[in-house]
Amino acid sequence: MTKVITYGTFDLFHEGHYRLLQRAKELGDYLIVGVTTEEYDQTRGKLNVMDSLMTRIENVKKSGFADEVLIESSPGQKALDIQKYQVDIFTVGSDWVGQFDYLNEYCKVIYLERTKNISSTILRAQKASIQRIGIIGTGRIAERFIPEAKLVSGINTEAVYNPHLESAKRFAKKWEIDAYESLDEFYDAVDAVYIASPHETHYQYIQSALRHKKHVLCEKPMVLARSQAQELFEYAKEQGLILFEGIKTAYCPGFTKLLGIACSGMIGTIRNIEACFTKLENPLSRELTDVKYGGSFTELGSYVMLPILKILGSQFQELRFDSIKGENGLDLFTKAYFTYGEGMGTATCGLGVKSEGRLVISGTLGYIVVEAPWWKTAYFEVHHEDPRDVEKFSERFLGDGLRYEISDFLSMINGSSRSEYKLTRGDSVALAGVMEKFLETEGREMNAVMEGQVK
Ligand code: CTP
Repeated sequence: MTKVITYGTFDLFHEGHYRLLQRAKELGDYLIVGVTTEEYDQTRGKLNVMDSLMTRIENVKKSGFADEVLIESSPGQKALDIQKYQVDIFTVGSDWVGQFDYLNEYCKVIYLERTKNISSTILRAQKASIQRIGIIGTGRIAERFIPEAKLVSGINTEAVYNPHLESAKRFAKKWEIDAYESLDEFYDAVDAVYIASPHETHYQYIQSALRHKKHVLCEKPMVLARSQAQELFEYAKEQGLILFEGIKTAYCPGFTKLLGIACSGMIGTIRNIEACFTKLENPLSRELTDVKYGGSFTELGSYVMLPILKILGSQFQELRFDSIKGENGLDLFTKAYFTYGEGMGTATCGLGVKSEGRLVISGTLGYIVVEAPWWKTAYFEVHHEDPRDVEKFSERFLGDGLRYEISDFLSMINGSSRSEYKLTRGDSVALAGVMEKFLETEGREMNAVMEGQVK
């Protein structure tokens, strides 16, 4: 019996796939088809796969050519599968010519001619109209957004707005997009906006963008008061629009995997989480001079609270803060202590004090440790009582990591809510609630709420 194997994503199953499977089957007597997992596709840069793994498997089965279907989840798997299943022929489309020659060591490699003028990429583009996105704000993070957005198919950055027209023009020239002086005209030119302006302006921009019927991806911290977050989410829902808080960690594949493992029982019941992120900032930077909204917690607090709220939940019993302050009263270093019935969490961040920046999740059977930069989760270890008993996990974190949240934002716009669990509306409301409490503790609350409110 001649065994043949082939692999693919098989998203939006099309004629090219059908013809490939048909010819693959004709090469032998028994056809094995490997279908990629979503996580594996993400790590190799395919960010917009539309069908779920189950749907893609079903479609491969429905073709009637596959005798067996397996799941492909890592790059080195093909050579192992070929040996394990005693495969005689590996085949794949001609778009891959040469790339799998190394498998000749294990079996015969055949490249089949690709069917012309059809691909999942073409179908995805046809199905989802291109979303034109505009950026509000022209700072550091906005600079990172454009190259990352270019890697996500289906989204096109076209416009920028900054009340300081000169900054907008400079930014627009660099990235070859359009600068707008009028906010109304800016909204007219786009379908969605990415808000990367100073924290305290988010609330008003989100509100005005939603009023103009635009989807919104807003940098963290989305807003600085719980009621504002609630109000905006409700308004977005009524309008049928997507409002999405951009905390890049929440959407990166490594962090999603880490949460899955933390909640799987592998380290027992989770009792303590310590998350730390420090970044020495220039004392003259906005972050360390804006006495109303600057400081380490408003800047980095969203990251360090994220694992605590995702794992232990938002129903903490007690919350308190300790800060070390600079001469202008801004916090250079802050610890937020969350107390739960049977667990606790410490979120530590600093712009003027440097620390190791580690995430440790402790449970009744072991602990998970992620070294800095854990907020770009790429590698973590699970330890148990016996120090030799260590399990290691890794995931790719590509570029600046914004591509993951942009891709999830786009999927939500296109009607898939499969990514919503990564950072729910409830999570964002809870995060805003903690920010509000922090500002209140610091005596900065009146400003935050009053200036955010639009009459
Ligand atoms: N294939 C083909 N002819 C096409 C499209 C795909 O023969 N027009 C083959 C590929 O070469 C591969 C298999 O079908 O062997 C699965 O490909 P996959 O990557 O899932 O499909 P694409 O349409 O190429 O997907 P994408 O556009 O996302 O790259």
